[in-house]
Amino acid sequence: MHTVKAIYPGTFDPLTNGHLDLIARGAKIVDHLVVAILRNAEKAPPLFTVSERVEMITEATAGLGNVSVATFDGLLVDFCREQGATAVLRGIRAVSDYEYEFQMAMMNRKLAPEIETLFMMPAEKYTYVSSRLIKGVFELGGDVSSLVPPLVEERLKAKVARQK
Ligand code: PNS
Repeated sequence: MHTVKAIYPGTFDPLTNGHLDLIARGAKIVDHLVVAILRNAEKAPPLFTVSERVEMITEATAGLGNVSVATFDGLLVDFCREQGATAVLRGIRAVSDYEYEFQMAMMNRKLAPEIETLFMMPAEKYTYVSSRLIKGVFELGGDVSSLVPPLVEERLKAKVARQK
């Protein structure tokens, strides 16, 4: 039987409802979806440690039987091969995401032609949601309760209270 395993990679600092929406959509069309957190992201120092992010995603996706959580370092395509995955799932929120996503998909195809990138769109209500904006708004006292899972909001509260 032909089964499709896909990797949904990212930094997920933190997981948003937009990510969760995409995970649920992806899990409906592939047999197994691995949400994979990049360990050594070049981005600014993360707010949450990798293990905190693993915990949050594991808890938030507990109801989805064909979703698992992992971490990776190095090239995404090497991780896909290690995992026996044949697809990468990425979300496109707006046209502005397209150029970066296109470049990544083409580079990944150059490196590993057997791996396909699948693009899906999250629900319209999440098109402006990003982890970066969530952190910024939350740190300034804004309400992000409808944009992240409750367990992420709790962790944000605890983290920001500790930093004060
Ligand atoms: O959603 P993000 O946080 O921008 O995710 C970016 C991610 C993790 C998908 C990307 O940086 C990545 O795949 N990094 C691994 C290194 C790699 O494979 N680079 C070559 C692809 S261009």
